[in-house]
Formats: sequence, C-alpha cells, structure tokens
Amino acid sequence: MQTLPYLDPTLPIERRIDDALARMTTAEKIALIHAQSKFSSPGVKRLGIPELWMTDGPHGIRPEVLWDEWEQAGWTNDSCVAFPALTALAATWNSALSQAYGKALGEEARWRNKSVVLGPGVNIARTPLNGRNFEYMGEDPYLAARMVVPYIYGVQSNGVATSLKHFALNNHELNRHTTNVRVSDRALREIYLPAFEAAVREGKTWTVMGAYNLYRDQHLCHNQYLLNDVLKREWNYDGVVVSDWGGTHNTDEAVRHGLDLEFGTWTNGLYAGASNAYDSYYLARPYADAIAAGRYGTDELDDKVRRVLRLTYRTEMRTDRPRGAMCSEEHYAVARAVGNEAIVLLKNDKNILPLPADARNLLVVGENAIKMMTVGGGSSSLKAQREVLPLDGLRARFGADRVRFERGYVGDVTGEYNGVVTGQDLRDDRSPERLMADAVAAARQADYVLFVGGLNKSAGQDCEDSDRAGLALPYGQDALIAALAKANPRTIVLNISGNPVAMPWKNDVAAILQVWMLGSEAGHSMADVISGDANPSGKLPFTSYAALDQCGAHALGAYPGQKRADSEIWDVDYKEDIFVGYRWVDRQRLQPNFPFGHGLSYTTFAYGRLQLPQAKSVAVPTASAPLRVSVPIANTGTRAGQEVVQVYVRELRPKVDRPERELKAFRKVMLQPGERQILTFDLDETAFRYYDDKQQQWVVNAGEFEIQIGSSSRDIRTKAKIRLQ
Ligand code: BGC
Repeated sequence: MQTLPYLDPTLPIERRIDDALARMTTAEKIALIHAQSKFSSPGVKRLGIPELWMTDGPHGIRPEVLWDEWEQAGWTNDSCVAFPALTALAATWNSALSQAYGKALGEEARWRNKSVVLGPGVNIARTPLNGRNFEYMGEDPYLAARMVVPYIYGVQSNGVATSLKHFALNNHELNRHTTNVRVSDRALREIYLPAFEAAVREGKTWTVMGAYNLYRDQHLCHNQYLLNDVLKREWNYDGVVVSDWGGTHNTDEAVRHGLDLEFGTWTNGLYAGASNAYDSYYLARPYADAIAAGRYGTDELDDKVRRVLRLTYRTEMRTDRPRGAMCSEEHYAVARAVGNEAIVLLKNDKNILPLPADARNLLVVGENAIKMMTVGGGSSSLKAQREVLPLDGLRARFGADRVRFERGYVGDVTGEYNGVVTGQDLRDDRSPERLMADAVAAARQADYVLFVGGLNKSAGQDCEDSDRAGLALPYGQDALIAALAKANPRTIVLNISGNPVAMPWKNDVAAILQVWMLGSEAGHSMADVISGDANPSGKLPFTSYAALDQCGAHALGAYPGQKRADSEIWDVDYKEDIFVGYRWVDRQRLQPNFPFGHGLSYTTFAYGRLQLPQAKSVAVPTASAPLRVSVPIANTGTRAGQEVVQVYVRELRPKVDRPERELKAFRKVMLQPGERQILTFDLDETAFRYYDDKQQQWVVNAGEFEIQIGSSSRDIRTKAKIRLQ
C-alpha cells in the first residue's frame, strides 16, 4: 500500500504540507487556526492530523484545567517539578545550564503530551515595578539573548515547541490590554528586540506569542510592523504566531497582520458565542463568512494553515520524539543546580558567609521561609510535586534542633490559583507589634539571624496582571529587618523576589543574598549556599536600584503613560530611550544598591591585563575576522569557584549618544584554588554597532573604542583602547 505524501515521514516537511493543504476543505482550514478549548486546537480528524496542546510555561508544566474553564480538571498525575523562574536562570549567566533546564522542562512537557510550552519570555526589565519581570531574563538584551537560545534548543530537542513571549514591548502589566508603546526605532532595535531576534534566528523557536498591549496603535497580536514586516519578512520566521489568551481583537487585523493561531479569546469558551463560543472566534466563523463573501482570498488563510501544519509536523507528527519524563530525580537535580548558581551574594561583610559547619543557634525569621511560592503569580502558577521550603532546607542541612523560627510579620496567608491550593495554614493571630517583638527577642539570643523575606506571588508583587506599587518591601519588612539588625549584628538577609527591592537597611546587615523564585528545590539551594556546599556564582541580571527614580523610566515620569482623553488607551513614551537599566545609572552617575552584573563569591578572583591585537588600529571586525580579546584570570582564594567574566564595549567619541558601556560578551569559568586560565573572546561588528534611526540600519563608526573587562558593570578590572578603521 502506498503512503499518502502528507503522512510519509521520508518526505521533506514542506512537501508534506503542500499535500495536506491540498486535501483540506476551507472549513477544515478555518478550524485549524483557532482554539477548540482553553489550551488546544483541533487538527484535522478526517486526515489524521493531530490536535495541538499548549501549556504554560515558562518554569514548569501547568496543571490540567477543564476543557472550557480555568478551574482544575482534578487530575492526580499532573504535578510537576517547579524549576527556578527565568530571572533566576538569567542570574546564572550559564548558557549550558539554560540548555539543561530547557531539556528537562521539555521532557516534562513531552511526558504530559504537550505540543507547545508557553515560554520563555524575554521582555526587557524596563521598570522594576513590572509584576512579570520574574518570568523574563533581566534588563540586558545581550544577556537575555545568550540565555534564551539554549533554553529553546533544550525544550525543542524533545519535539516540543517553545512559544517565545510576549512579542514585543510588553514591559509592564498595568493596563496591559490598553497600553500603546511609543519608542524610538533605535531603542526598539538595540534594547527590546535583540533577545527576540536571537530566539527566532538562532534558537529557531517554532512559535511566538504576541503581546497584549499595542504598538503603533495596533494590538501586538495582530501588528503589521512587528509581526509581518520584522518577524516574518525581515527575520524569515516560518513558525506560528499564536495570540496571547484574549489578545485578539478583530477579524480584519487578525487576518492581515500576522496572527496565525487564535487562543483564549473569551475567558470562558462556553458562554460567549451562539452555540460553541469557539466558532465565534475572530478567526473562526467571521473569517469563513468573509471569505465566502469574497472579502478575502485564500492566500492569508493558506499561509496560516501552512504554519500550523509545519508546527504539527515539527511536534506531534514526528516519529522520532523521545518519550519525556516527569518529576525525575534528574529534573530535580537540574532545578537545584540552577538554583545554586542563581543565588547572588550581594554583600558579605567580614566573610560572615558561609556559616561554619558547626553553626548552631540559628534563627530564621520571615514568612517566605515557610510559604510555598510555586502557587500563584498568574499563568505560571504550578502544582509542584514537592517544594522544599527555605526553613526545611536549612533545618535539613544544619540540624532541626539548631534552627529556630520566628514569623516576624504576616504578609499574605492565601495560597490558591485557579483551584490549586497550597493547603498551608499560615494564619497567625499575633499583632504586628507582637510578631516583631517576639522575633527581635529571639534574635538577641541567636548566633545568626537569617531573615527570609521579599515578595511573594500575590497581586501587586511577583505576579501577572498587576504591577508593584513601589520599590519597597511590603508588610513592614523594612522596619523588622532594621530592628533585627540592631538586635543582632550577625543578621543576614535572603531576599526572595524576581525584581529588585529597596534596601534601606543595606548598610546595617552583615550579608545580603538575592534569592529568586527557585521552585521545588528552593530550600535546598539556599542551604547549599548558606552552608558553603555551593559557592555562589550568580550575578544580577538587572540593576538593583536604591530608589525608584534611579530607573530612567521613572526619573522621566515615563510610566505608566498618559490616558487618552477620548479613549481607554494609555500612551507610554519610552523617554529614556536606549538608557534602560545600567545604561541609565551609568550615564547619570548614580549609585545603585548593587550594579548590573554584580555578585560575590566565597573565593576571590584576580584579573590580569586584557590583551588586544598588537596593532592599535584594526579593520571593523566581522564574524569571520573577529577582534580577539584575551584576559588572564586566577582564583586567588582557598575555595573552588566560578566567576562570570564580563566584557563591555564603549565608543569613546560617538556621533550619537551612546552608553558608557554595553555588555557584549561574557563567560562563566570554574577555577580551582590557585588555578589560572586565559580566556579569549571574539568580538564581531555587533559588539561595536548602534542602530541609526535616520538610515534605518546598523552602523559602526570608525574611531576609538574601549574594551572593559570586569566582574560587574561597576567593577571593571582591566581596559584597553582600540581604533577601528
Ligand atoms: C498570559 C500568557 C499565558 C496565557 C495562557 C495569558 O494571560 O499572558 O503568558 O501563556 O495566559 O495561560
């Protein structure tokens, strides 16, 4: 018997797509490009073309919801490993770990029979108030690009697609459906698009999710410029653009402006349509009717169908996919390894950390030490098979009898998302004064105080669909930390958050660790670092501002924008332009709490002099003839440790305003005590160029550049000049 071409795995995918397309009726094509349930699209049953199933994303596989509702389906086999959130992954600066993370996550998705993971996200941290920054990869386009590409390789190696989100310019949550971004082409190209472009061109993500907000007055789920002109034409993207859930707004734009697959248009698919609400989606009956009435030909439709078929061939119709695995010990090991490398040691006075092996009489204070953080935060909420809480991790490592706990404050005792409940009873009837007094009294008696606080996953914190009200910690934590520090000079703060927080007590505490939303292995990773079992090697993927007005967007009053008098639209001008994060604080000569790229170790590293080519003047480097920069680095301490060596570039006499430095290369290197290595970096033209708005192209000027190499953006250890001809 002869195999039909579209089913023949020996034929090239494009040939199979042609054949499948030729067999499909218009009704089947229409059905293929919109949802049939909350998270699935129907395929073509008659032809044996399978359904596509999507799942959030991005740091674990979401538990199963009902066909038409957000509530839980009640499965008992849909618990997952909660991996550290993506700011944590970015803080490792370790691209190999990112690939291991993607591979493990993809295996969980595969086991659950998902075709697409809705993630990763690479929206740039423009403001520290953005409730969703924890799901993204920080403030720097180069770092985000380098970290996102391996994640995509890892996931897609399972025959499971990633969905890169939220494309693009989706930099805060407030008014997320009605915010219209106005940004220069230069900032768009230099800051907001590079990580997306790398994910598309290098990572080859098979799907991209549009954003909720608007750009150039068009919603980003159907946006002529970004979806058609940039993504599909300029970047040759051949995958699927999927709408964010509820991000599609009308048929005509959806047809013409680049959307391929419509999902989530009504929050409840049961009630909003005549019979089956999904038939009333913008790309469903209204589109079919318009084609029948001759308002559209079939070119757009066929293009969308081709893309969805391509996705199906890349995922569901592959015969060589691995089977995946769920909640394996290997996955927990990846989660722990990422957590260990993500934690950033911000400050460590008199080397108070790591705690000595025989440390006893430890006092842990703070709600986040006992609160599950894997539930909540919006669509990335999970049902974790297990979650090691910080207090439990510390007790397991140091001995239960050596670690006392005081609550200190009561923040948010709820713990529920779409029917997943933590089951924790976190109520405490003591007054705030009593809670603080009890904690302070215990602190006086303790050898060490470990304060575990920060943000949580409730609205207004690290949470979708809302932004934070300010930079300060909630629930009176600042006053509590100050009181603890006064009571005990050996107070160490572990701040759990996906965003920077104000630290008015910064100089009063002995040590500070930035700990992220670390998921299942949170408590183990914290104990590994506190005990010195792991030597911290994380570096901040964002600027830790001392005050909100140290951030350009806020200093210039450019958040959240202005509401138009005559409509619900909010226009936000990105007035700080390319000066986002460290680019702004460097230019304004501000002193943040901790700079971008900062992170200490339990050992020390010495940098030698950076070496450039002998000639003082060279041709503009290219990928095939790059500028080779090298630097010796040595571990001068007594412990093995990893350092992230960062290479920044500055143009010395630019024709346009340029940053003091921009990250253009980095490498994480493991060194034994006394070991020395020479690292080399190859810089091509992308390390020197800027985007010229007028010419609408990238430009490298001839002239002098400075190469700066260091341990953070403010700790440059060696630099040298080079002239480009
Ligand atoms: C979020 C997406 C998510 C989708 C599906 C939306 O509200 O913005 O990131 O993937 O829901 O849950």
